[in-house]
Amino acid sequence: MKLYVVDGDAVSEFMGEPGERLLDACQRAGLPLEGTCGGDMACATCHVIVAAEDFARLPPASEEEEDMLDLVPASRRTSRLACQIVLTPAQEMLRLSLPAA
Ligand code: FES
Repeated sequence: MKLYVVDGDAVSEFMGEPGERLLDACQRAGLPLEGTCGGDMACATCHVIVAAEDFARLPPASEEEEDMLDLVPASRRTSRLACQIVLTPAQEMLRLSLPAA
C-alpha cells in the first residue's frame, strides 16, 4: 500500500504492508524516526503529524498515547505515535509529515 511523506512542497511515496506498524514502514523507507523505545510509548521519537484530511482514517489514539503526545513540544492536533498505528487498507495513501528537527 502506498503512503506519502510530505515535506513542504515535496511529496515522497513509500510503501507499507497491512499488518505492520507505521513506524516500521517509515524506518524501512529511511525516514529519520528513531523509535528508540521500540513501541513502548516511552520515547515519542516516532512522532508523526498526519495530514488533517487523513486523520479520521486512523483508529483513535489510546489514552496512553495521548498522554505521551501531550509531552511532545512539537505536538499538533493530528499528531500520532507511529509505533501505535498498525496499517490496514483503510490507510491507503495516508499522508504524513515529520516534525521539524
Ligand atoms: S517508539 Fe517510542 S513511543 Fe513510539
